[in-house]
Parts: sequence; structure tokens; C-alpha cells
Amino acid sequence: MRTNIVAGNWKMNKIFEEADDLIANIADFVRNNELENTAVIICPPSLYIELATDLAQETELYVGAQNLSNYESGAYTGEISAAMLESMGVDYCIIGHSERRKYFKESHEVLAEKVNIALKYNVTPIFCCGELLPEREAAQHFDIVKTQLEQSVFHLKEGDFKNLVIAYEPVWAIGTGVTASPDQAQEMHKYIRGLINDKYGKETAESSSILYGGSCNANNAKELFANPDVDGGLIGGASLKADEFIKIIQSI
Ligand code: 13P
Repeated sequence: MRTNIVAGNWKMNKIFEEADDLIANIADFVRNNELENTAVIICPPSLYIELATDLAQETELYVGAQNLSNYESGAYTGEISAAMLESMGVDYCIIGHSERRKYFKESHEVLAEKVNIALKYNVTPIFCCGELLPEREAAQHFDIVKTQLEQSVFHLKEGDFKNLVIAYEPVWAIGTGVTASPDQAQEMHKYIRGLINDKYGKETAESSSILYGGSCNANNAKELFANPDVDGGLIGGASLKADEFIKIIQSI
């Protein structure tokens, strides 16, 4: 049985006091509620990772980073390495988010390097894929997602691929209030699982968690998560308020 996951991607939001408050509220919820077969992950800005791992101690709350360097260590001003993340108790890292592809020009090749180095240091990649609006309108969305997976994660050996989470995030749905319909999400998730099946076989395909991201909130999460191939969500804006994020967790 595969794991359901609800992950919050805070992006570049929250000053220290707000972060402290939000993490404490989510940690309290996770501490006081049995969440069967569901992992809750928060991905705050890296500056708050130590705060998050401290507050998450002795709870089932996991901490993820939003980015890591494709380099191992050394003279790379401003970067954070996979080894550093591992040493701080970080379990996950978002890789391939469309905002990093767009604003930081991260290529398929760099993303493949990031995936490799994360796995080397026992950090589970949450690998994001998804098409732009014109690509969907031109009915290229399946090809785009296939290429993203082929170029950055399908080089992995099966044993490594099993330590990876996929997030389908149609770019037109991110931060727009326009969510993919449950049917659109299910269609793409099923397609992705089919690609994993072709590459790695049935067992790996069936055990891979595939998350949906893009304007997922407390009102639409239940309908999205009800789909057989949607194993949870990667939540942006709606992960910034404890009560809303908790409602999303309760929707799984
Ligand atoms: P929103 O939930 O704000 O649309 O963002 C989704 C996202 O990009 C998560 O990584």
C-alpha cells in the first residue's frame, strides 16, 4: 500500500514569529491525531529548518527543504548542500518546482543532478512536473510531463526511484485559483503511473506516491484526493494557515 502525503510548500513566506506559530500549530495537530498511512511534511524556507525539526521532534511531522545545491560542497556562495540537509534531519526536498525552472532557469540536467545528490544523502526528492497553459491548450501536456520525467528521474535505478515522490503541478493551476478538475488530475496521475510501470514495473508503479499541486485548498482537496491515483497534495498558499492546512490533511 502506498503512503498518502500532504506536503506544504511555504515558498518565500513568513517571518520568524509567524513561522514559529504555524509550525507549532501543525506539530500539535500531528502529535494529537493518529494519521493512518499519511505523512505530513512542511517545507519552510531553509532559514527555519532547524526551528521546524526542533518543533517536529517526537511527532510524525516531517521536514522538507524547498531547494538544494546540485554541487556537493565548496565555494558556491548562498547554496545549501544535500549533506547539510541530511545533517539537520531533513527528510525531503522539493526538486523541479516550476518556479525554480522559470525564475532560476533550472534545466532538466541540473534537476537530474539535484535528484542524484539528494538521494546520495538520504533526502527524498519531491520531484515536480507539469505543463504550462499553452502546452495544455496544444494538447502537449502528456509529452511535456513524460520528457520532464525521462530527463530528470528515469535514469535512476529502481531501488533509488522507490525513494522518490512525484508531484504533478500543472503550472496554470499554481497560485491562480484555477484547480485542475478531479478528472484532469486523475488522468495525468494515471498516465504518470503508467510511465513508471513501463520503466520500473508494476510493483514500483503501485507503491509510488504521486501528489497533486496547484490551487489545492480545504474546499477542493477531498474531491481531488478521492481519485485512485492521487495520493495527496503539494500545497502552496493553503499551507500558510494552520487551520486550512489541517483541513486538507483531514481530507485525505
Ligand atoms: P498553490 O497551492 O499556491 O497553487 O501552489 C502550489 C505549489 O506550487 C506547491 O508547490
